[in-house]
Amino acid sequence: MANRTTIFAVLILSSALFSCNAAGPGPSGGAVFNVLSFGAKPGKKQESTQAFIKAWNAACNFNGQSTLLIPLGIYKLGETIFRGPCKSPIPITVQVQGTLQAVSDPSAYSGDGWISFDSVNGLILTGGGTIDGQGRVLWQYNNCKTNGNCVLLAASIYMNNVNNSNVNGINLINSMGFHMHITGSNLIMIHSLSITAPGNSPNTDGIHISKSNTVEVSMSVIRTGDDCISIGQGSTNVTINAVTCGPGHGISVGSLGKEPKELDVKGLIVKNCTLLGTTNGIRIKTYPASNPSRASGMLFQDIVMDNVMNPIIIDQHYGTKSTKPSLVNIHDVDYQNIRGTTLSPIAVSLMCSSQVPCQNVHLQNINLQFKGIGRRPTSVCANAKVGYSGLQIPPPCKI
Ligand SMILES: *[C@@H]1O[C@H](CO)[C@@H](O)[C@H](O)[C@H]1NC(C)=O
Ligand SMILES: *[C@@H]1O[C@H](CO)[C@@H](O)[C@H](O)[C@H]1NC(C)=O
Ligand SMILES: *[C@@H]1O[C@H](CO)[C@@H](O)[C@H](O)[C@H]1NC(C)=O
Repeated sequence: MANRTTIFAVLILSSALFSCNAAGPGPSGGAVFNVLSFGAKPGKKQESTQAFIKAWNAACNFNGQSTLLIPLGIYKLGETIFRGPCKSPIPITVQVQGTLQAVSDPSAYSGDGWISFDSVNGLILTGGGTIDGQGRVLWQYNNCKTNGNCVLLAASIYMNNVNNSNVNGINLINSMGFHMHITGSNLIMIHSLSITAPGNSPNTDGIHISKSNTVEVSMSVIRTGDDCISIGQGSTNVTINAVTCGPGHGISVGSLGKEPKELDVKGLIVKNCTLLGTTNGIRIKTYPASNPSRASGMLFQDIVMDNVMNPIIIDQHYGTKSTKPSLVNIHDVDYQNIRGTTLSPIAVSLMCSSQVPCQNVHLQNINLQFKGIGRRPTSVCANAKVGYSGLQIPPPCKI
């Protein structure tokens, strides 16, 4: 659909552009690869998967700054893998203005993701559009409640081996599995996302991070049926700032210790977050009978709990009924300025491993009020070395 001006601009850009008649001019002299020029068919019925992949490949192999443009419209997509490394100079921009809708057929997905980015250095994913996993149709195939070794449904956005990436201004709704899954990646900045799925949708975590270094999530609102943000094995230097969660299961470190030889979690800051009616607030969960690993250097600061069932919780007997202790060693954990309301009288529960007790846990200025009649909020602890300072509601565990 190139018009006169587009063609003119393409001609004056460079001779490299000249050979690429599907590209238009982009910001700062780059080229725009519009999925419509590659055969994408907006409208609800026809799949546009191949057109998206062709447009990506053209943008990614372009000899100049490039943008993949998904203009307004509804696009039906099956499994879509945007693969790098790209030849275009970094960053490559993916501008999602339209709505992407997943094909509602579990056999359409062979891997971990619906829309995947693989081996890309320098990615900007933005545009104000919507990524709709159409999970309502597929949630019935999730059997993780009864099968501990279930295979999770595809994540709406799966990033593997992606570096230097910025994701912002995207709406994610009703994912099949996780809304975003980031793994094997470095330096990922995420802000201004809106993530929405029903409170009873299974395993629809907002953002799951694993095996990645330096990930920052900020200024986002996440309502899901599972963890708001979950921090899995091998996550280092993760910051979560100004995120509002709920409904859902809250912000979780874990589950850790399910797989053999897991990597440590080290360096997590969760600050200025609000949890609204979630089942857990800030939780660290590990499987019993695990292999050894560590989760350490975690700071939870300036957190508001609004009617949260278990506001502060360490649970080292998560997931199975095994009585063998977890060997995930949790240490150096700080909770500072945590306030609001708890729905259960046990506002603080620090239940650590008898084999590797929690060390150097510190609570400062905790004010969690229980609105129920006849009971005061309490703390329970096991195998935890805990220090306290400032206000303590509930009162500290008796040692
Ligand atoms: C991302 O960074 C890691 C660590 O520096 C490196 O091993 C990997 O090759 C990089 N990936 C890409 C796609 O550039
Ligand atoms: C940790 O993350 C922050 C951004 O949140 C970054 O500025 C810093 O360089 C990172 N540190 C390391 C050691 O990767
Ligand atoms: C805390 O987060 C809210 C949004 O949830 C934001 O408006 C406010 O500026 C943040 N405050 C600080 C000190 O970062």
